[in-house]
Amino acid sequence: MAVRYELIKVCKQSGARLGKLHTPHGTIETPIFMPVGTQATVKTMSPEELKGMEAQIILSNTYHLFLRPGHELVAEAGGLHTFMNWDRPILTDSGGFQVFSLSNLRKISEEGVEFRSHLNGEKLFLSPEKVMGIENALGADIMMAFDECAPYPAERKYVEDSVALTYRWAKRCKEAHKRPDVQALFGIVQGGMYADLRKQSAEQLVELDFPGYGIGGLSVGEPKELMYETLEVTTPLLPVSKPRYLMGVGSPDALIQGSILGVDMFDCVLPTRIARNGTTMTSEGRLVIRNAKFTRDFGPLDPACDCYTCRNYSRAYLRHLIKADETFGLRLTTYHNLYFLLNLMKQVRQAIREDRLLDFQKEFMTQYYGSLH
Ligand code: GUN
Ligand code: ZN
Repeated sequence: MAVRYELIKVCKQSGARLGKLHTPHGTIETPIFMPVGTQATVKTMSPEELKGMEAQIILSNTYHLFLRPGHELVAEAGGLHTFMNWDRPILTDSGGFQVFSLSNLRKISEEGVEFRSHLNGEKLFLSPEKVMGIENALGADIMMAFDECAPYPAERKYVEDSVALTYRWAKRCKEAHKRPDVQALFGIVQGGMYADLRKQSAEQLVELDFPGYGIGGLSVGEPKELMYETLEVTTPLLPVSKPRYLMGVGSPDALIQGSILGVDMFDCVLPTRIARNGTTMTSEGRLVIRNAKFTRDFGPLDPACDCYTCRNYSRAYLRHLIKADETFGLRLTTYHNLYFLLNLMKQVRQAIREDRLLDFQKEFMTQYYGSLH
């Protein structure tokens, strides 16, 4: 088995899990936030910078690397770790989500999905077998099964069919996976916002006995309360001894509430994407650095932060760089936002250790959002 989850303790106040995930490229402390490196790079960050902020694992995308530069080329380079010079754990998403959100003219069948590349319109095809071939070639420590993520809202019948297809595809992924000794394959629970379909999907995937489980189809436009309700009926159905990964979720409030509901892993483009248009996450909430009120603010971005950006540069300087479209500005805001979320998860883990995650949540939410929600 390529990865092994070790449950260290459960927070007596909140029920959140503190754990360790042992992988071929090292051990990850959970709950964890995974920075997104879609195209074999976390936009604007070097691996050294990611290590400097204590990133433990990053995510990359099968869909993008399949289109460009191609998985054969990455394999020829010696795999994704060598290609991008990152020697810590990597997780690859399967493309089951990107095919639906990025590509054009997709045609879905039992066999797989036919679609047109969002880069050049080329007609392409992905199936569970093909995706496993790509993910095996990329060589990530954790690979995700090829799934169908239902949109929101979706008719019950649509979601029923999508849960059934996701299960049949998960079985085919498991059979086609060539390197289970060095790469762990996670199944993905779907089921939209229907509690009974979530249950069905979870039970079906658990029966296939994956070394970990993704929870997909959330944060797709539904109200946050509905996401939490859905999550609350899903995590208890998953084995205590395996990691749970809430896919595509990474707002600060959701990282905390997700941890409380039993999630171990998260990823989201939010911190890196908003950083590049000058929106930062600080201990007192979001701060838009372009704002005129920062023109002569020579203090740090976040006085409570001790990251490289906050130790060395002022709001006035950051505002200038972002307004002048200087790439150094993008790097500095990206560094800070990732540091902020990684540090938030460190505080979450410490609070679990000390059985006070609900207290921490209350303090954080009051500070960050100015209220309890
Ligand atoms: N990323 C965010 N949501 C999903 C999902 O439902 N499936 C996959 N494969 N990736 C995701
Ligand atoms: Zn900072």
